[in-house]
Amino acid sequence: MKVCVVGANGQIGKQVVKLLQESNEHTPLAMVRKQEQVAYFENLGVETVVASIADSVDKISDAISGCDAIVFTAGSGGHTGPDQTLLIDLDGAVKTIEAAEKTNVKRFVMVSALGSNNREKWNEAIRPYYVAKHYADRILVKSDLTYTIVRPGGLLNEEGTGKVSLGENITRNTIPREDVAKVIVASLTEEHTYNQSFDLVSGDVLVEDALKQL
Ligand SMILES: NC(=O)c1ccc[n+]([C@@H]2O[C@H](COP(=O)([O-])OP(=O)(O)OC[C@H]3O[C@@H](n4cnc5c(N)ncnc54)[C@H](OP(=O)(O)O)[C@@H]3O)[C@@H](O)[C@H]2O)c1
Repeated sequence: MKVCVVGANGQIGKQVVKLLQESNEHTPLAMVRKQEQVAYFENLGVETVVASIADSVDKISDAISGCDAIVFTAGSGGHTGPDQTLLIDLDGAVKTIEAAEKTNVKRFVMVSALGSNNREKWNEAIRPYYVAKHYADRILVKSDLTYTIVRPGGLLNEEGTGKVSLGENITRNTIPREDVAKVIVASLTEEHTYNQSFDLVSGDVLVEDALKQL
């Protein structure tokens, strides 16, 4: 599959691009929002496209056109306010979903957040973030796309173990970004993950086995 990584310059995004490039079945297209971010990917021999999810659906469509799948791992980050949460985490995600529908890019893997499906679990301090994740996910579920919604717990930058715990209503815990990237890439062609949503934390089941149990 040719896979467009939206948020490729991010911490999960870079790991997803690397795994896609190492795989025999996929080719990454790194979507970045600044020209100065292109060189990093060109040095790896990865094709890039400069586009922002703050742009119009038409511009996002031009960027993703010709791909078979989208991995959405962009986010406004904790350093911005609720306005960017609305514009990027919610509307940016929804515009990317609309662009995928418009350009017939059928497969869509969304990086959401643990508990975003359940209002009872929303952290009061970052409630707007959970609102954005929740409604972006709901719109993806209602779309024509073949989706997988991955809801990781707290992200760590330590080395991955390749072992996870995933499913509905998993107890809040952490997970290395490297393992989230493994789950994303393995999900692309694992049919058990098609039209499924799940919480994801570190655990004791190999990624490939855990996905097959969905
Ligand atoms: N932190 C956690 O514990 C946690 C837990 C669960 C889920 N998540 C979710 O996991 C995802 C990835 O996390 P991460 O740690 O990899 O985040 P990250 O390092 O902040 O990466 C986010 C990426 O999104 C890009 N981005 C921001 N605005 C954009 C725009 N307008 N157009 C295109 N790209 C844009 C950023 O671009 P620049 O590089 O140019 O800034 C960045 O590369 C996010 O969706 C986050 O909400 C996080």
